[in-house]
Amino acid sequence: MIRILKWSPEMCVGFEAMNDDHRRLIALTNRLITAFYAGVGDGVVTLYFHDVLNGLRDHFREEEAWLAQCGDPGLAEHRAEHAAFLADLAGFSLPGEGGALLRRLCDWLTSHMAAMDGGHPPPEEDGETAFQDGGMPVS
Ligand SMILES: [Fe+2]
Ligand SMILES: [Fe+2]
Repeated sequence: MIRILKWSPEMCVGFEAMNDDHRRLIALTNRLITAFYAGVGDGVVTLYFHDVLNGLRDHFREEEAWLAQCGDPGLAEHRAEHAAFLADLAGFSLPGEGGALLRRLCDWLTSHMAAMDGGHPPPEEDGETAFQDGGMPVS
């Protein structure tokens, strides 16, 4: 059985809306994990999985737009990693591969948010990145 995901300070980025999005993805994933192991039925598990997928697609689009605005030099690699993960998830079938799917989802989210998302935006070469009140970088 897989443990639910927990928010970690390593996952923090410099734009609060992205942190909120990450917390929302963790909550959606935890709802899916809980439903799967509670045996609520394949229909509910499939529905919750589609909510996670839609949440990921929306989040990736928002995050990539934000990173582009930040001028992130790693954007192409980051975007490719998002796309590869969505393609990977499409290869699982429910309910038979539910356990493997949840493991992949949890492992990827934990490592990606900490290693690739965490700490963004990257520091600018001449010093600090300026932010408006809402957390969006000022160009
Ligand atoms: Fe990301
Ligand atoms: Fe992210």
